[in-house]
Amino acid sequence: MSDVTVDEIRKYWNERAKKDTSAQSTTNDVYFRDIETRVISEYIAKLKPDSVADLGCGDGRLLVTIATMHPDIKFYGYDYSDEMLKIASNLIQLKNLENVKLQLHNILNPIPGKFDVVYTVRCLINLPDWELQKKSINNIHESLEPGGYYLMIENFIEGHDAFNNLRKKFNLPEIPVRKHNNYLSQKKLSEFMHDLFLLEFDVNISSLYYVVTRIIYSRLCADIGVEPDYFDPHHKYASLLPFCGEFGPIRFLVYRKK
Ligand SMILES: C[S@@+](CC[C@H](N)C(=O)[O-])C[C@H]1O[C@@H](n2cnc3c(N)ncnc32)[C@H](O)[C@@H]1O
Repeated sequence: MSDVTVDEIRKYWNERAKKDTSAQSTTNDVYFRDIETRVISEYIAKLKPDSVADLGCGDGRLLVTIATMHPDIKFYGYDYSDEMLKIASNLIQLKNLENVKLQLHNILNPIPGKFDVVYTVRCLINLPDWELQKKSINNIHESLEPGGYYLMIENFIEGHDAFNNLRKKFNLPEIPVRKHNNYLSQKKLSEFMHDLFLLEFDVNISSLYYVVTRIIYSRLCADIGVEPDYFDPHHKYASLLPFCGEFGPIRFLVYRKK
């Protein structure tokens, strides 16, 4: 549980969008977003939905890439940060995209519309407690058509702890969860989802990537006394590795509405 309020977290995202409209406005780790974009896009290609909602779409970079790849699908991006949506709106105009609509919306409120597919990419982790995360998942469930799919990319505390334990073995300091984040628990999530969804797929998409970038590369940087750089090519090449192991926080889960 985070001791920051929903309003403070929203302020954090608004401020971040105002300060930085670059590819790093929603994440420092831009190569990891390539992995997220790939897995969401591949699943959408497989499901062939008519409508897709991106909840917590942020600056819209992932949404715009996916909507460009799937021009026949209607996309709806929601975020509670008007500053993030301004960046997203500019990107949509730049690309002349006609299949994307944006709306200012807090996912703690019922989502306006019904969709074949809904996805979140590191959005639920910005809700400060499990009760609010469950409320949002109920809203997601309500917003899906019968048999619709919820594609979830979120951070989990179990993988985060496993990865920090590995860092210790390499004499690297623990990386703390950021104060505006509240990572999910795999155990609690699986108990809660049981009545709402069928779990069709679950994989840790961050393990090998984190081993290369946050263990090997971090150790090499510490050895020569330099700060790690998110644009160092270790990240680029790590983003091409297959998914294997449990040493990272971020998972991709595919749920079908019961
Ligand atoms: C880590 S960023 C991820 C953005 C985007 N999904 C991506 O992959 O780049 C989290 C986003 O979720 C949004 N967000 C957090 N809580 C939200 C809520 N309760 N309702 C709507 N958006 C929210 C934030 O404004 C921010 O843009």
